[in-house]
Amino acid sequence: MSVPTPSLTPDQQKAQAARNAVEYIQDGQILGLGTGSTVHHFLTALGQRVQDGLRVRGVPTSQATATYATQLGIPLLDSNEPWDIDVAIDGADQVDPKLNLIKGGGGALLREKIVARAARKFIVIVDEAKQRPYLGLPFPLPVEILSFGWRTTQRHLEKMGWLAPRREQAGQPFVTDNGHYIVDVHIPDIVDPAALEITLLQLPGVVECGLFVQMASLVITASNEGIRLSQSSK
Ligand code: A5P
Repeated sequence: MSVPTPSLTPDQQKAQAARNAVEYIQDGQILGLGTGSTVHHFLTALGQRVQDGLRVRGVPTSQATATYATQLGIPLLDSNEPWDIDVAIDGADQVDPKLNLIKGGGGALLREKIVARAARKFIVIVDEAKQRPYLGLPFPLPVEILSFGWRTTQRHLEKMGWLAPRREQAGQPFVTDNGHYIVDVHIPDIVDPAALEITLLQLPGVVECGLFVQMASLVITASNEGIRLSQSSK
């Protein structure tokens, strides 16, 4: 009688994807360091390699990532330096079949997008639940907005037909590392993420949205069946 393979929890899958991503890192590289629980696993594995002698420098996308990377002894670059990033590594909330992403569940989408865009290669690490035929609900799209006039910006979004509640944490407005608010916009199947991104970025008050369109070079997905690699056709 065959013994069934125990299924991996989402967190175990995140750790597997993260450990696989560390294999891509080479000595001397400058790395964009994303944010979130999957990246936490990546930093743990990277920190071990740094202890073993790997020389890399990181550009963190959040205060949380900067703090953890520093604890692990991963050297960081100053945010004012012009970066020449070899590889950025980050998680995602959703991935569609064309490797477009929703990000920002952790609220770090603005810095994540700046860093990913500055990198020659962008590696995304996810558990299999993040793969979706279309981006959108059940995961609402995070949109970073200025606190100035935020209710008016919210109303613009609502007039487009979407619920757009302001994100809260412990009963208080969630404030990003950049001092802005996040609204989580309830949009059903997003069939044209590129067009939606343009529409959102044209609204005054919108600082950035969590759509990452045709940015990923490689998506590493961990599942019970193992690791799946999806390369961008770019
Ligand atoms: C942070 O703002 C997000 O973009 C994260 O990268 C994303 O939410 C994935 O998070 P987890 O790795 O915690 O699932």
